[in-house]
Amino acid sequence: MISRRSFLGAGALGLGAAGLGFGAARLTPSASSEPVPFRGQHQSGILTPAQQQMILVAFDMTATLREDLIDLLTKWTTAAERMQAGELINTPKARRDVPPDDTGEAMGYSAASLSITFGFGASLFEHSTKGDRYQLAHRMPEPLRGGIPRMSAEYLNQDASHGDLIIQICGEDPMVVLHALHQFKRIAFGLASVRWVQLGYGRTSSTSEDQETPRNLFGFKDGTSNIVAEEPDSELNKHLWISDGSWADGGSYLCLRKIKMMMEVWDELSLDTQENVFGRDKNEGAPLSGGEEFTPPEFQHPAMDPKSHVTLMHPSNNGGARMLRRGYNYTEGIDYLGRLNAGLVFIAYVANPQTNFIPVLSRMTDDLLTEYIQHVATGLYLVPGGIKDGDNFVGQALFDA
Ligand code: HEM
Repeated sequence: MISRRSFLGAGALGLGAAGLGFGAARLTPSASSEPVPFRGQHQSGILTPAQQQMILVAFDMTATLREDLIDLLTKWTTAAERMQAGELINTPKARRDVPPDDTGEAMGYSAASLSITFGFGASLFEHSTKGDRYQLAHRMPEPLRGGIPRMSAEYLNQDASHGDLIIQICGEDPMVVLHALHQFKRIAFGLASVRWVQLGYGRTSSTSEDQETPRNLFGFKDGTSNIVAEEPDSELNKHLWISDGSWADGGSYLCLRKIKMMMEVWDELSLDTQENVFGRDKNEGAPLSGGEEFTPPEFQHPAMDPKSHVTLMHPSNNGGARMLRRGYNYTEGIDYLGRLNAGLVFIAYVANPQTNFIPVLSRMTDDLLTEYIQHVATGLYLVPGGIKDGDNFVGQALFDA
């Protein structure tokens, strides 16, 4: 397979001096060029160090046959593996009488740490009106059934929620991420249609000890207390990976909440009030009970408000439940009041949403933070285990029964 870089290099050689200069100027677009391994026990894009750019895309199936679904997953998997390696999805100019397979806009770009993560919504297994289209209803994992129940501070856009299939595309370069979206949509033509697309700019979590904690749009460090890749397998298997011996083993659940943040209201709060809401210092991210960023909070300390976000979310106040947060900031112009339409694409991966996510989320009813946010979209997806050597497509074990 031809790498995107070598292809552009070869092409540019034929352009002469002026063409070469133009080509060379466009050859350094990527922040990072490390390819993320594609095959393994778990899908990439979960414990992969969180990249700076993300696009989430949800599809609804339009094709009605089980074979069509398998066909789509096979084509997507092949394309994902090539793109993640920094390759074109097919040999360019293989034929002149048909459109090129790869649309071309990422030629010359590196792999840019691209990671592709596929997930299945409950409606893929059993659809509310189309029933058991793909003979999968009997294999729906119990925790997926019913999705995330209604919560406080919700005003949900159903058209921007749910979906039969979801693809999380992350990378260090926006062009590489956008190119991947383009290819998945093109491959899906006639089989599935896009339900919604969500862009995310700037990670709001760290998933590796080597990463600095980033900040969210309220200006606070976000992702201090998170599951990270360096933790022992016993901890990851308990909180992150499905390990129940089912076809979904090695997978996880993607819990999605798009949350608008009332930035203009927040900006006028005193520093004391802002810090009290989270229970953390704004500059260092240290708990208000004292210490430094990674000092464990002391919830009996008078400076920790019992309704602060950290107090309510912390595992010690939730029966030990932990989650791997992997969210992104978003911004989409202004609303009808001229306020910034911006917030957090909250993404968490957990071994079981019924124990590790839904009960914790429900505690936000009492959270001081809830006054300054509004949940605008939701979704729950089963992310199958990794694509193993010899597998043709993601989620193959689901169909192998
Ligand atoms: C716009 C909405 C949200 C904002 C701005 C926000 C922000 C923050 C911040 C600043 C922290 C403290 C630093 C850290 O440990 O990462 C934090 C912690 C945390 N948040 Fe959120 N968060 C939001 C929504 C959510 C939601 C929906 C959940 C899931 C139910 C959640 C779960 C957690 C958890 C589990 C922690 C770590 C608590 C700990 O172990 O100390 N957050 N969040």
